[in-house]
Amino acid sequence: MANATHLLSLFILIQLNCVALSSHGHGHGNATASFCRPDQAASLVQLKQSFIFDYSTTTLPSWQTGTDCCLWEGIGCDDGGGRVTVLDLGGCGLYSYSCHAALFNLTSLRYLDLSMNDFGGSRIPASGFQRLSKLTHLNLSYSGFYGQVPIAIGKLKSLISLDLSSRKNIAPDETMHTYGIVDGYNFLVLREPSLETLVANLTNLRELYLDMVDISSSGEEWCSGLGEAVPHLQVLSMADCQLQGPIHSSLSSLRSLTVINLENNGDVSGVVPEFLADFRNLSVLRLSFNDLSGWFPERIFQLKNIRFLDVSNNRLSGDLPEFSNGTSLETLNLYNNDFSGMIKPGSFSNLLSLKELALDGRGVGAIFLMD
Ligand SMILES: *[C@@H]1O[C@H](CO)[C@@H](O)[C@H](O)[C@H]1NC(C)=O
Ligand SMILES: *[C@@H]1O[C@H](CO)[C@@H](O)[C@H](O)[C@H]1NC(C)=O
Ligand SMILES: *[C@@H]1O[C@H](CO)[C@@H](O)[C@H](O)[C@H]1NC(C)=O
Ligand SMILES: *[C@@H]1O[C@H](CO)[C@@H](O)[C@H](O)[C@H]1NC(C)=O
Ligand SMILES: *[C@@H]1O[C@H](CO)[C@@H](O)[C@H](O)[C@H]1NC(C)=O
Ligand SMILES: *[C@@H]1O[C@H](CO)[C@@H](O)[C@H](O)[C@H]1NC(C)=O
Repeated sequence: MANATHLLSLFILIQLNCVALSSHGHGHGNATASFCRPDQAASLVQLKQSFIFDYSTTTLPSWQTGTDCCLWEGIGCDDGGGRVTVLDLGGCGLYSYSCHAALFNLTSLRYLDLSMNDFGGSRIPASGFQRLSKLTHLNLSYSGFYGQVPIAIGKLKSLISLDLSSRKNIAPDETMHTYGIVDGYNFLVLREPSLETLVANLTNLRELYLDMVDISSSGEEWCSGLGEAVPHLQVLSMADCQLQGPIHSSLSSLRSLTVINLENNGDVSGVVPEFLADFRNLSVLRLSFNDLSGWFPERIFQLKNIRFLDVSNNRLSGDLPEFSNGTSLETLNLYNNDFSGMIKPGSFSNLLSLKELALDGRGVGAIFLMD
């Protein structure tokens, strides 16, 4: 039963594109000088041996002992030292029963992408990641890991981008639901350490994707530590995380945010804070399917960079805004709330970029597609 599930999920994966089509070619001005170190090649070969290629988009043919691993598919090295700094196997559809510990001997890695592979629904390694202390980019999204996100990841102080998400919409059609794959899928959890503990020392973080990670145990404090811990954050994506309670004022210091996605948590409640209107670079605000109420800050409509605004399916009220010339809005979804007021003639004609609009209540009860 479990095996059938994996086979099918892999079958779906093979339709995805493996991005690792070629070597990353860092520091190949002189191939001799950057010839990979034997211990690095050995770790990679061990890793290769832990993969099953039945459903993959590549069999890693270039990964051959005795050749320069800096030239292998998906690999990049530092200049001159022959140490592997890039391992990009994202979207390769590789299968493995677990994550081989040889990975953690690649201690010079800066960029690690194992997304869209299938680690057999195994537990994410509790220990090991802390050895990859130079990592700036870590992408484990949709790789089949489950269980508690290890504190080891919270020790990677150089991280700029962390993606542990899995996304429901990855399912190409209803097939996955029919076969119960989505329901049978095991998720990552942030309980001990909590989200707050995990990010406490990740002060360089710019992008944090945790969609579908179970963060329910943080309770109402789910974002109370973020403002202080990750001041430079630009992307905060926590859809489907079972978050509950208000958007904490701690977030008000995250003025660099360009993307906020808290969709589909169900129990994110309280008001949409006025301070979001001070985030000059905000371009995506997704708050749909929550329990937000009160008056929606009109100034958010006026943000110059806002492109995608979806607060549908809450209990918000507010006035339909008068849009000024020069807004960037492409999608505006206020559906299933309690917005009211007149649409002023000419106001919407200022929305030169608008492609999708959904309103209801006393205003307009339909979805328009304007192209
Ligand atoms: C490459 O490096 C080797 C050894 O350091 C050196 O002898 C050779 O001249 C270099 N070749 C080029 C094209 O720079
Ligand atoms: C990792 O490297 C150590 C030596 O630094 C070695 O003893 C060990 O076997 C290596 N482990 C793996 C899994 O390659
Ligand atoms: C992680 O990988 C997925 C799938 O390959 C990709 O869609 C996503 O953009 C990546 N995340 C980041 C932060 O680059
Ligand atoms: C963060 O740093 C502090 C001070 O160095 C340390 O006590 C704490 O254990 C660190 N947290 C993590 C998750 O590594
Ligand atoms: C907003 O974006 C601009 C241009 O990318 C950048 O220079 C500026 O620092 C950003 N503002 C904040 C508060 O991050
Ligand atoms: C809005 O600005 C565009 C160009 O920036 C201009 O062509 C258009 O006439 C303006 N519309 C209104 C209603 O002022």
